[in-house]
Formats: sequence, structure tokens, C-alpha cells
Amino acid sequence: MPALPDTQKALVLPAKQADFVVRAVPVPRPGPGQLLLKVHAVALNPIDWKIQKFGWVVTEYPAIVGSDVAGTVEELGEGVEGFQLGDRVFQQGHFTVRHAGFQQYAVANADTTAKIPDNVTFEEASTIPVGLSTAALGLYLEHPPPNPGIGSAGLTAPWEDGGRGKYAGRSFAVFGGASSVGQAVIQLASLSGFSPIVATASLHNAEFLRTLGATHVLDRKLPSEQLKKEVEKITKGSLDVIYDAVSLPDTQLAAYEVFSPGGILVLASYDVIPEERKDSGKRVVRAWGQPNYPSENRVVAAKLYGEQLTSWLKEGAIKPNRVEVLPNGLEGIPEGLERLRDDRVSGVKLVAHPQETA
Ligand SMILES: NC(=O)c1ccc[n+]([C@@H]2O[C@H](COP(=O)([O-])OP(=O)(O)OC[C@H]3O[C@@H](n4cnc5c(N)ncnc54)[C@H](OP(=O)(O)O)[C@@H]3O)[C@@H](O)[C@H]2O)c1
Repeated sequence: MPALPDTQKALVLPAKQADFVVRAVPVPRPGPGQLLLKVHAVALNPIDWKIQKFGWVVTEYPAIVGSDVAGTVEELGEGVEGFQLGDRVFQQGHFTVRHAGFQQYAVANADTTAKIPDNVTFEEASTIPVGLSTAALGLYLEHPPPNPGIGSAGLTAPWEDGGRGKYAGRSFAVFGGASSVGQAVIQLASLSGFSPIVATASLHNAEFLRTLGATHVLDRKLPSEQLKKEVEKITKGSLDVIYDAVSLPDTQLAAYEVFSPGGILVLASYDVIPEERKDSGKRVVRAWGQPNYPSENRVVAAKLYGEQLTSWLKEGAIKPNRVEVLPNGLEGIPEGLERLRDDRVSGVKLVAHPQETA
């Protein structure tokens, strides 16, 4: 393998809420249990523009963001087993300059890194981690961390003994089925055996969502009263689990109104349901889709990424999002983030090629 360069290009946020700029930065090196990846594809997520626009999450600047990474293993940290140089892999980074995805080389934790099977491209693989982690941790995290509001539906995961198909005959709904999180939720609900699986989306995405396992697709623009009636008709008045993958104030409220006491609502964002509308029989939890920490999340993620995901991709039980490749490497990312912010992306994941940066 050619020698590693000392420097690389990265899309940097020089200061809180500053504009993105492409700069040369050092190539990070892997620590014990870590891998250095050459990033061939990185997918864009809403949190990337929210960090830039609102100054959320990141506290140290200059910063690098981007999480959905697919690439090749270029260096093995001490004690790493099960990976070789040149392996095609994907993983979810986080927002430190070592682990972020909007750069040409990034460090990954080996235990939450999955190998890419031959039937999946780098671009497709990069569409998976953030959506899948947020779906999986919101549904299957057994021991949520002691962090107020973060939780899970506490279901038995389909990778556990007896988990696949366990919830046959139980009803499930997802609001925002065409979002990245929503697509992953539909596929996991299907692996868990739920039926019916009702999704809301723009109707041009209906056929696609059925290929992922949705049994019914309802127009996301239906007024909430009508939506409630349709969902009640399909689920015969008993909805066990609902995942609001959009989690805007109006979708949260509509989702809350639609499920049954004794059931559970999983949100992808902060709970803004007015307290006066709440009923003590209805549980609401907020998913947190970071597989690398805290340790409770990492235990689940290590099983999913380390043991299960590659074979699910090979058999087609989990399908990647559809891809739109952005031009101009890292330079093309800011315009893609603007499209995400303005709700101008539907049913596809925007992906950049960091190695193509001029
Ligand atoms: N908690 C966490 O750790 C975590 C992690 C990841 C993401 N999130 C959050 O989860 C949300 C989804 O993220 P994402 O990456 O999955 O988003 P995304 O893929 O960018 O979502 C875009 C899709 O959202 C759908 N949509 C928008 N408004 C909708 C509505 N009112 N009803 C139904 N569908 C609607 C659109 O579907 P159509 O094309 O069908 O109209 C569009 O395709 C974001 O708020 C994000 O910040 C949270």
C-alpha cells in the first residue's frame, strides 16, 4: 500500500456558525482498537447543517462534521483483530476532528465498524449508519443511559435469539417513512415481524417504501384527524409502537394522538408535545443515534455493526438508501446541506466523494 500522506483535505468549520471552508489538515492516526479509513464516500445528514447554522453539539473549533463514512482500511491500531488493510468498511463517525466524515481520512472504532459485502457500493454503504443507528437504538436499546429523555422502546432486537419475527401480529407505524431514519425503521420493524407497518410519506415514495416492508403508505399531507382515522382503521384501533422519524412539533402531536395507551412513541428529536395533551398510559422516549458512546449504546452497536449487519446487507434484509452523488468532492457538500435544510431532498441520500476534492 502507498505510504500515508501527512496532510489531507477536510471541510472545516473554522468557528461556531462560520461558513464551511476546505483546508489542509493533518491525517489522524488510529489509537488502540481503532482503524484509519480512507474515506471514499460520505453521506450528508440534517445534523450537519444544524451544527453549522445553530452552533449545536460541537464545542471545540475549528471543527469537522459529517458522520456516515464508507472507505478502505489504511492502518490498524494496536490490538485490532478481524480487519485487514484494504478491507471495504463503513461506520458512523462523530464530531471530533479525528472521527468526523467530511475529510479524506478518518479514524473509526473497530468494534462499531462493519465490512461492506460485494453487492453494496461505497456510496450505498455510506447511506446506512446514522439512519440505522437511530432506528435501532430507539427500538432495541436494552439499558438506556441515565440521561433524561433518552430511551428506547426496549424491544428484543432481531439479531438476538428469538428476536427475528418476534412481534408478528403486532402493529407498527412510522411517520416520515421516506427519511433515512424512517427507511431504517421500516426495515427493522419488518425484521422484528410487525404487521401491519403503516408509514406516512409523499405518495411518490409509496412503492419504494413497500419494497422496504411498509404494508400501508399514507399521504404525509393528510390532516391529522383523517390520518388518525386511517391509522385506526388499518391497526384496528390498537397501535403498539410508533416511531416519529420527522419529529417536528406537528408530527409529534399527530403521532401522540394516534397510538394506544400502553403503547410507545419513539421520537427522533426533543419531545415538544404539550404536557396538557399527555396521558399517563402513553410512553414517549427519544432515540439517540450515536453508536460509539455512551457505553450502553456501544454494546448494542457492536452487535449490530460487528456481528450482524454485513450478512443482512448480503441477503438484502437491510437495503441501503438510494443515492445521489454530489459533484466536486468536499466542495459540493455545503450546497447539499442547503438542500437538506430546505426540504428539497426526497427519498434519496446525498453522498460526496472526499477523494475528488480539487
Ligand atoms: N436523535 C438522533 O440521534 C437523530 C439521528 C439522526 C437524525 N435525527 C433527526 O431525525 C430527523 C430525520 O433525519 P433524516 O436524516 O432521516 O432526515 P432526511 O432523510 O433528510 O428526511 C427527509 C425526508 O423527510 C420526510 N418528511 C419531511 N417532513 C415530513 C412530514 N411532515 N411527514 C412525513 N415525512 C416528512 C420527507 O419525506 P417525503 O419525501 O416522503 O416527503 C423527506 O424525504 C431529523 O430531524 C434529524 O435531525 C435524529
